Formats: sequence, structure tokens, C-alpha cells
Amino acid sequence: MEIHDEMKKRRTFAIISHPDAGKTTLTEKFLLYGNLIRNAGTVKGKKSGKFATSDWMEIEKQRGISVTSSVMNFEYEGYQVNILDTPGHEDFSEDTYRTLTAVDSVIMIIDGTKGIEAQTLKLFKVCKMRGIPIFTFINKLDREGRDPFDLLKEIEDELGIQTYAMNWPVGMGKRFQGVFDRRNDQFIHFTGNEQEEPIPNAELEKHTELVENETFQAAYEEMELLEEAGEEFDMEAVQRGEQTPVFFGSALAPFGVETFFNEFIHMAPQPAPRKADGDLIQPDKEEFSGFIFKIQANMNPAHRDRVAFVRVCSGKFERGMKVTLDRTGKEIKIAQTQQFVASSRETLEEAYAGDIIGIYDPNIYRIGDTLVQGKDTFHYDELPQFPPEVFKKVTAKNVMKAKQFRKGIEQLVQEGAIQLFKGVRNDDFILGAVGQLQYEVFQYRMKNEYNVEVLLEDIGDRIPRWLKEEQVDKKLFDERSLLVKDREDNYLALFKNDFSLRWFMDKNPDIELIDLFEVN
Ligand code: G4P
Repeated sequence: MEIHDEMKKRRTFAIISHPDAGKTTLTEKFLLYGNLIRNAGTVKGKKSGKFATSDWMEIEKQRGISVTSSVMNFEYEGYQVNILDTPGHEDFSEDTYRTLTAVDSVIMIIDGTKGIEAQTLKLFKVCKMRGIPIFTFINKLDREGRDPFDLLKEIEDELGIQTYAMNWPVGMGKRFQGVFDRRNDQFIHFTGNEQEEPIPNAELEKHTELVENETFQAAYEEMELLEEAGEEFDMEAVQRGEQTPVFFGSALAPFGVETFFNEFIHMAPQPAPRKADGDLIQPDKEEFSGFIFKIQANMNPAHRDRVAFVRVCSGKFERGMKVTLDRTGKEIKIAQTQQFVASSRETLEEAYAGDIIGIYDPNIYRIGDTLVQGKDTFHYDELPQFPPEVFKKVTAKNVMKAKQFRKGIEQLVQEGAIQLFKGVRNDDFILGAVGQLQYEVFQYRMKNEYNVEVLLEDIGDRIPRWLKEEQVDKKLFDERSLLVKDREDNYLALFKNDFSLRWFMDKNPDIELIDLFEVN
């Protein structure tokens, strides 16, 4: 009963957006509602600017920040809220993608002056392939932005998801007056101060000073159009990730943020059953279980510890409990734990499905590992592999160090920080990563932990496409469509750009090219 009740309170989600859309500003408001911080402006610190490659301290600072703020949890109106950070900017990496495997829903922020941007699109694809429910907040209404209909259409066309506008803006920028709250048949008046004033639609006529202007009338007509178009709000479609409720507002003003948060918290799904070995594991199952979705190595050589991030999927976790690591069958007592609040780590005593815990990792865990209470183990479905974008050829500076070189690569690849490919023609070692930062970390750790200096040769951003073995004819591939094998010996081609990809497709219409985003 306790497990069931606790699980039902959990709301575990990530916020996805393109840099500068307003993620920090919005998150700060959420933390204010949760009484986690007293003043906005506390979460900042991310804008330390670009760091020089050699300036390790800066990277570490960056990583330090991303450790402590990678999960934030607080109580809000009886709910236990867990917000997972999805690092953007230079930190964008596999971790960013993997974080999305540990959440139950996602808030997508779109800058209303810009529409959908590259990073949002990438993160959206992961949500889509995993069927994660998405709630959209269109931000910066206090600025002159794009037409709301256009924005909805762009979301539908580019992301392939149905939209349902939960509210409808009246004007924008200097003419911004508020929003129609469609579900409650009321108008929320923007007065410029934080107090939001609802007026039932039926009473609007009385407020002549408000309604008798062109902007208001135009928005009213737009809203009628929307009603006539007859899109229905469909909670089941939202839960399947096929429809997204869209809220307009301004994180900075702030306007519509608290309403959004309240509605979101009520609508957002609780932890769902998860697939393991062909079965579904219920979140209120008695025994604790969870999986590791991220491992964070401490970069400071004086503290060579690592933290594994576990998403609790069932049961109750208690500090000091014994669990079985399914990959090895070994029993482990988990004594050192952390939970994460906005600016510090605290020891965590217990956790339920939906929670994220950090456990001390004496170098025994791997990304994707399942931990289960008791001996009856199972394995949560493999985390998907994400397509890297930045590729580099790697060699050891000193050929005498070949052994350490291989060992270092092997271990770092296992950690999931970076992916390894082998050139089919000449057995080159080619590394692939989602973002640039991992190369700096990789180079640093190879030197400091394995005592090998590595040379990285840029082969540019590439578009990877997997191939079916029976269709591989080595003659068809060249430098522009570099043929390599991944760790499971699957073939893939690394295309130099969109043009070379299309050229190849035109020449070889029968060869199937597989985009990882489509298959996972
Ligand atoms: P991010 O975490 O998604 O990268 O975005 P962040 O919240 O840092 O916001 C990026 C910029 O956009 C900030 O301005 C922020 O103040 C502004 N912003 C966020 N929400 C709104 C909004 O609703 N309306 C308007 N007009 N601006 C908004 P900045 O000048 O880059 O930083 P700062 O010096 O103001 O902090």
C-alpha cells in the first residue's frame, strides 16, 4: 500500500529545449513554487561561457555543476516532483539523450519568437521513439513573436505530433493582454504584476475596457476558429505521446507559468510499468528494482570516485539494502547514496519508483545495468544506442603504449562516454560522440588514468546510417561514405553530409539505410 501510494505521487520529467528558449528561467519558477529556492537567479552559473580546451578546471566546474543540478526534487501539493536536467550547450551528449530514458514525461519549451530549433528537434525524436508524453510551453509571449497558428502548424508538421492548445494568447509583446483558458472557459488577464486575474468568459462582456479593442476581438475570433476546427483534447493520445497539450506564456514575466505547472503536475503520468525480459514490471511491485542510465566520473584525481545514477522502477529502496546486479549475479550492499537537490548532494535514505538516486560506484557498474532486490533478477530492456554526430580517428602518440591505449579505450567505451567504431578498410579506431565535450574528457582521462597521450584526427561531423550485412558491397563506399563497424560488428556508413547521403541513395536505391532514431 505504502509503495503504491508513494509511487502515485511521483512526477518525474525532463525539460527539453534549445539553448536560450528559457529552460533555466522556467525551472527557477518551478523551484520557487517548490520552495527550493527563495530568489530567482540562483540556478544560474551555467553561462560561464566557452572554456578553453586546456582549462581543465573549467570543464570540471562545468561537470560539477551538471552533477549537482542534474536532478532536482521537491514536494509540491502532495506530489513528489523530480526534474532531470538535460544539459545543453557544450555539454550536449549521450547523457542528455539517456536522461530521457529515465523520465515519465517531458516538458518541451519553444521560444515563441523562433519556433522549433535544432536541439529541440533532436531531443524530441528520442521522446517520440520512446512514446514519452510531451507537454509544450510556448515561451516569451511578452515579446513580439510568431503567429500562434503558425507555431502550432510547425509543431505538427516538423515533429509529427498532434497539438491541442490549452490556452490561447491575446496579443503579444507590448499588446499582450492575457490568455483564454479554453478548458475552464475563462480569460486570464495579464496585469503586469504576478497576480493573474481570471474572468469567466460569460462575464467578459461587462469588461468593455478590456474587450473593445482590435487585438482582443481578433484573438476571440481565432479561438472560435480553433473550437470550430474541432480538435479534441485526448488524454489517452497525450499519454501515448501522440498529442501534445500546448500552453502559451512567459517564463520571465512570469505569466501562465504557475497555471501551467499546476495543470502539468495533475496531468503528467505517474511512473509506468517498464519492460524487462519480455515482461512488464509494475512500479508498485514489492521488490526494489532500477536501472543505471548515467555514470559520472569525478574528474578530480584526488577523488577518483564515480556516481551511478539509478532510476528506481519498482518497490522501495532503503539505504544499506542488498541488491543483485543482474549482469554479474553478484550481491551488493548499497550504503553510500545521494539524492540531488538544487545545489548540494544529500544522503538519501529511501526512494520509490520514479525517484533518481546516486550510488557510489567503485568501478563495477555499467550504463544499462539492472539492480534488483533479492535473487530473482531480471534485466530492464537495453537502453537505445544514440547516433553520434562528431567523429574522430584516434591513435596513441607513442606506439609503445598500444596495450594501455586499448585498455583505456575499452573501459571508457564501456562507460558509455564515447562510442567506438572500426574502419573496415584499415582497422582504424574511430570514435563517435554526440557532442564535442566528450573528446576533451576522453583525452584528459586517457592521459591521467591510463597514461596514454592520444592524437585525435578530425573527420568532421558525419551522418551515420546502419546497413544490412547482406547488402554491404565494400566497393560502393569511399571517404565520403566511410564504411565502419560498430562494437556489435554491424556495418554502418558515415556520410560526410546530406549531399553525400542523398547522392548515395540515388545511386543505390536498393540499399536500405537505417537511421538509429527510427529503429530504437
Ligand atoms: P536556457 O536555460 O533555455 O538557455 O534559457 P534562459 O532561461 O537562460 O533564458 C535565455 C534568455 O531568455 C535570458 O535572457 C532570459 O532572461 C530570457 N527569457 C527567458 N524567458 C523569457 C520570457 O518569457 N520573455 C523574455 N522576454 N525573455 C525570456 P539573457 O538576456 O540571455 O539572460 P539574462 O541576462 O536576462 O539572465
